[in-house]
Amino acid sequence: MIYFDNSATTMPYPEALRTYQEVSTKIFGNPSSLHQLGTSATRILEASRKQVADLIGKSADEIFFTSGGTEGDNWVIKGVAFEKEPYGKHIIVSDIEHPAVKESAKWLSEHGFEVSYIPVNAQGFVDVEALAGLLRPDTILVSVMAVNNEIGSIQPIQEISALLANEPTISFHVDAVQAIGKIPVSAYLTDRVDFATFSGHKFHAVRGVGFVYKKAGKKITPFLTGSGQEKDLRST
Ligand SMILES: Cc1ncc(COP(=O)(O)O)c(C=O)c1O
Repeated sequence: MIYFDNSATTMPYPEALRTYQEVSTKIFGNPSSLHQLGTSATRILEASRKQVADLIGKSADEIFFTSGGTEGDNWVIKGVAFEKEPYGKHIIVSDIEHPAVKESAKWLSEHGFEVSYIPVNAQGFVDVEALAGLLRPDTILVSVMAVNNEIGSIQPIQEISALLANEPTISFHVDAVQAIGKIPVSAYLTDRVDFATFSGHKFHAVRGVGFVYKKAGKKITPFLTGSGQEKDLRST
């Protein structure tokens, strides 16, 4: 069989499966445990965080592990909205976002927030001028994907970053699930991007892992609460 559906999911690399099996059998301690197996698990976890951070040219402190893209998108859209609610209730997403973003925005619109949608042109590219016209003093979040999951259009994240350079109070989220490993990181993770979502199964990892990039100092309300893992922002 020749598999041509790598945008839907990828085959896990043998080395990823081998590592998963080895760590799960030999270093299965809970990273929160104080005994040796726990501290060994913490070391592996933090080494993985550093590896992921290096991959996108960011600091390990800015990486938060999740279960994948759907969770990451839900967390950022809702978590930023809740966090910044006192400053405004207007959020903007593009018309061609993945349902993980669009449905999160729709959910917020049913719970007291106002959502505007940025139109795209006939080729599927976000209209940056239209975005400029949608910005308001109460806008708290803009979310635009890096690469569309259905037609592959690479969105003008650098142009949007330039537009938002003058809007420091607006959080900028990029769903980078379809971008990582396919286009240069600089094309979608500019210095202006505050949050970005990634999913492991789109680039040959085992299922059920992903991560969110959160720029140092940016605030977000936790989505999963519990025992305080991931710096109290994403309990497991
Ligand atoms: C652009 C985009 N965002 C989010 C997701 C959701 O990711 P996951 O399958 O890890 O939940 C996908 C998956 O198809 C996607 O293509």
